[in-house]
Amino acid sequence: MLQEYREGLLYDEEGRLCFGESKFLVEDLALEFGTPLYVYSASLIQGALREFYGALKSQAGGRSFLICYSVKANSNLSILRLIQKEGAGADIVSAGELHRCRKAGIDPQKIVFSGVGKSPEELEYGLKEGILLFSVESADELFLLDKLARRHGIQARVSLRINPDLTASTHPYISTGGRKDKFGIPSEEILDISLRFREKCQEKDREKSQKKSQDSKGDTGGVEICGLGFHIGSQILDTSSFEQAATILCELRSSLQKSGFSIRYLDVGGGIGIRYKDEKTPAIKDYLTCLFRKLPQDADLNLLFEPGRFIIGNAGILITKILLSKNNRGNKIYVCDAAMNDLMRPALYQSYHEILAHRKERGKCNSSLVGPICESGDFFANERLLPSFEQGDYAAICSCGAYGFSMSSNYNSRLRLAEVLIQGNKAKLIRQRERYEDLLSLEESCMF
Ligand code: LLP
Repeated sequence: MLQEYREGLLYDEEGRLCFGESKFLVEDLALEFGTPLYVYSASLIQGALREFYGALKSQAGGRSFLICYSVKANSNLSILRLIQKEGAGADIVSAGELHRCRKAGIDPQKIVFSGVGKSPEELEYGLKEGILLFSVESADELFLLDKLARRHGIQARVSLRINPDLTASTHPYISTGGRKDKFGIPSEEILDISLRFREKCQEKDREKSQKKSQDSKGDTGGVEICGLGFHIGSQILDTSSFEQAATILCELRSSLQKSGFSIRYLDVGGGIGIRYKDEKTPAIKDYLTCLFRKLPQDADLNLLFEPGRFIIGNAGILITKILLSKNNRGNKIYVCDAAMNDLMRPALYQSYHEILAHRKERGKCNSSLVGPICESGDFFANERLLPSFEQGDYAAICSCGAYGFSMSSNYNSRLRLAEVLIQGNKAKLIRQRERYEDLLSLEESCMF
């Protein structure tokens, strides 16, 4: 029995690195589709989703729940389709993500529109699609959404995102619940804003009923505050912060209910950490136990979960080719054909990603793996023990299914890379490698 080295990755009897349920050779994938290349495993994605659903089913105790996959983690259409087929909905943060979800066949009634700044056009798009919930992060947005909903005669549901003033232990750039973070509405202001909003709505409704000439379409529109939510950050390993946030959420729900609001949706965001190196990650069961200790068990309560990284983080690798190696004053440096524009995480968060050679027998040496971009931040590993690569070798950069391709760019006019999905015994191209035409198409037509 061959030992799995990391999620979906193992070396076969001949010491060749394989990935996915049918054990595709990393070298074959590189030769068939070219490098750099993202490859995902459908069974790992489904496995993570099913694990989440399974734990929810056994622990929810009568509460209704919905998994809204956080699209920003990886928004490829085929991935969205795969996730939709598993019954999940989506957490989106832009009109572009909404457009993708609709193309992938995700039911609008399973879509939550999050984000700290949505434009009027984006809000209108969400209204017209009839999405499940708008997660609203400010009073300004609440009033704007209501105005737009009234204008279009659409009834919409709102969940207010709270800022609970707690700092989850993770990288500061991906901690979102602290008092100085831009996200959410300070929890102590939620009740006031909700009351003020209701008062204004009642005023508007009174004015409307006095105006007999009002067309009936406009009479029905507006928004209802019927949810509360939080998202305190990403790659969180310590479940106690989720519990603290849930406590604040439930206290707020009680005070809103006492004031006559019917809070039927509680959105607990995403943020569960995964293993990149040797982190001790929370079991889904323990994460849910923490939340369910606090969340009420009312029959009319719908719980929303927005995992991104947990679903796809460990299900994707980036295959890159070693272009050359050099020795700068005793420092061994491997230059590969992937760069920070393809995977930004190490440059942005100094994140760790395991790096494996396509052949097991390569020894190890202290070295760096860098990309060709003109920035010193363009590295995947900095002075650490790496395989002793040879020119032309392939490296697999692990655990980059989430926030890998979705954060990629054309910096340095590099063509964005291809994506492949392994499903059963097939490796299917799910995004073509960009071509020079793609790089220039939006400029050529308006070049002077
Ligand atoms: N819900 C909301 C409102 C979010 O803002 C996010 C992620 C999620 C759910 C999903 O969180 P997850 O389960 O994936 O942790 N680019 C960074 C991560 C940024 C996360 C932003 N928000 C990285 O590469 O680590």
